[in-house]
Amino acid sequence: MTDEQATSAGGKYIVIRALEDGVMMMGLTRGRDTRSHHTERLDAGEVIVAQFTDLTAAIKVRGRAEIMTEHGVVRSGPGET
Ligand code: TRP
Repeated sequence: MTDEQATSAGGKYIVIRALEDGVMMMGLTRGRDTRSHHTERLDAGEVIVAQFTDLTAAIKVRGRAEIMTEHGVVRSGPGET
């Protein structure tokens, strides 16, 4: 993937910090089809820096995590508002 390709899709990065063991993050494909092209398991304290690209249009997080984006910080997981 060239920088230009990443940029055409935004190329933005987000940071996901797991607040418990077994947090799952999924990269969802761009385009008509929405499928999970990559899943990653994070244990408590582990951090992933992920990028939106031509392949990745959305990122799904399951479990308790702190998600940092340019829009701010949100938490995922049961009980979070
Ligand atoms: N394939 C969808 C698309 O490119 C992926 C997607 C983008 C998506 N934003 C989403 C899936 C929000 C679920 C929720 O539009």
